[in-house]
Amino acid sequence: MPAPSTLLAPSILSADFTCLERSIEIASKAGADWMHCDIMDGNFVPNITFGPFIVQAVASCTPMIIDTHLMISDPDRFIEDFVKAGSHQITVHQEACPHLHRTVQFIKSLGVKAGVSINPGTSLSTLDAILPDLDLVLLMSVNPGFGGQKFIPSSIGKIRLLHDMRLQANPQMVIAVDGGITEENAQAVVLAGADALIAGTAFFKSADPAATAATIRAMTR
Ligand code: DX5
Ligand code: ZN
Repeated sequence: MPAPSTLLAPSILSADFTCLERSIEIASKAGADWMHCDIMDGNFVPNITFGPFIVQAVASCTPMIIDTHLMISDPDRFIEDFVKAGSHQITVHQEACPHLHRTVQFIKSLGVKAGVSINPGTSLSTLDAILPDLDLVLLMSVNPGFGGQKFIPSSIGKIRLLHDMRLQANPQMVIAVDGGITEENAQAVVLAGADALIAGTAFFKSADPAATAATIRAMTR
């Protein structure tokens, strides 16, 4: 079943890496549900972030669900490492997986939840065949690669369509939306059908992250 109330997932990408533990504590105190870890390889996306070592450090600081978003080519090579590092959910990109069904089954065989992410320029119809197998879809509302980008407005229609698709194919599946989420657009995103909001800049760069989280929650209840 999709979550009864909106799940909030701060992206560690926008946190202060000189005080990672403190940043995680801020998220935890703000009532965050997942810690979103953005893994970029400089190949699938034009940016490099961090690997399993940092995910392990994050996981060691919190009992929160570790939600790992692999923006990497050929993710099968590293999935096991990210599970061993403490990920509870692994999301791969549709665009990076020629054998998506195999990759999804592999993730599940390791005992964690399997997600597929889809870029703004990719049609949702490419997920038709895999939807019944998924625990979550991470719908990108920016082109992946960087935090702090502007929400692409056409994502709202795409979330609505995905919501309709899941009612038919897999009502339990969670819809997460990633990129440019703010206090201003969170309500529209949830009304369109999102269950989980990933927020990097809006949360960690806020003067008061707990207040921002509370505002988003109040608007999306
Ligand atoms: C984008 C990442 C996002 C991003 C979210 O490639 O997948 O998770 O860090 O950050 P904001 O909320 O700043 O768009
Ligand atoms: Zn992400």
